[in-house]
Amino acid sequence: MLSNLRVLLIISGGIAAYKSLELIRSLKAEGAHVRPILTKAGREFVTPLSVSSLAREKVHEDLFSLTDESEIGHIRLARETDLVVVAPATADILAKMNHGIADDLATTVLLATDRPILVAPAMNSRMWENAATQCNIANLKSHGVMTVGPALGELAEGEFGIGRMAEPAEILLAVEAVLGNPLSGVRALVTSGPTYEPIDPIRYIANRSSGKQGHAIAGACARLGADVTLVTGPSTEAEPLGVSTVHVETARDMLRACIDALPVDFAICAAAVSDWRPESVHGQKLKKGQAAALPANLRLVENPDILATLAVRENDRPKLVIGFAAETHDVVAYARAKLASKGCDWILANDVSAETGTFGGDHNKIHLLTRDVESGVGIEEWPQSSKRDIAARLAERVARVLGAAA
Ligand code: C5P
Repeated sequence: MLSNLRVLLIISGGIAAYKSLELIRSLKAEGAHVRPILTKAGREFVTPLSVSSLAREKVHEDLFSLTDESEIGHIRLARETDLVVVAPATADILAKMNHGIADDLATTVLLATDRPILVAPAMNSRMWENAATQCNIANLKSHGVMTVGPALGELAEGEFGIGRMAEPAEILLAVEAVLGNPLSGVRALVTSGPTYEPIDPIRYIANRSSGKQGHAIAGACARLGADVTLVTGPSTEAEPLGVSTVHVETARDMLRACIDALPVDFAICAAAVSDWRPESVHGQKLKKGQAAALPANLRLVENPDILATLAVRENDRPKLVIGFAAETHDVVAYARAKLASKGCDWILANDVSAETGTFGGDHNKIHLLTRDVESGVGIEEWPQSSKRDIAARLAERVARVLGAAA
């Protein structure tokens, strides 16, 4: 989260400027205040109206605007921010930055600022590879300017090469790496998704978990700087950026992958692990005629409990072991019992009864139960929110406990 952090976003004139609109939206979603500056060339690609509507801020464009100078002024623009981001950063603006040229509002602010600067270069690959640009970027880096991208890919002219602006999600990660890194140096393990327990080579027992919550948690922890291993059962969710993802199918594979990921500082078990698996897996597809024998073929045995296993590890127990309790009734009472029986430190309890639409949906309502040796069990009620917001809140909560200790 970037709550209350201020980003001064300079949009210079490149076709990638359209992606800056998405960047504004993502920065706002993380709680940042975005103050935009649009260069004259940038205005050829995106309109001040779309920029200001998304930023919910006035767009600054003109160095010699009497009203702007009397209201805020370019020096305050340069200083009243936590970070300056230039996205897209054209070859032209990089050259001006390197040579201290200040011939418009954007370049004047860049020369006047004493805040960190992050640039996201975007240009044709020949322009990027040109010795002049490479020299400019190397110089800027040696002066402390940070860069994200450019990436390899298809360029606006239909050519393929290096020069594409980094995707907004990647720029957001870079912003968060500069501004908010409370989990830097902290190792995390997150489980997500369902598990598939095979009956025969074709069929399996599974559940409706989408993996949305677990994947969002892994991403949120990575955004705060944690070194995250995500162990996930089958899920259609995209792998979160900046996370190392291990794909598994069964509960036993998930447990093995989790043990392999140890030691970690904290573990969050958000996977909906199948409680049981068929005792034996048929080597060949069961035929219809064998259906009568199915009940016998489907003798179930209990799966290992990954959360409970992690919570009782002797030498490498994570400092914080966090589980979920998905219940359809008496949510808090069951969660309280689960906290004790599993030996974990926190439980996020949620109501998954059909009418809440939590399973597979985008929202969740959490009661956080924390166990403290001295003060007993504490309960926090979190408002109904998106799974993404819950993930961010949880990552911040963990950071408050572990970040300082790391
Ligand atoms: O017992 P129950 O399935 O309700 O517990 C839910 C919590 O335990 C979740 O955090 C889930 O990820 C974890 N769990 C596990 N391994 C299992 C079953 C549940 O890690 N076999």
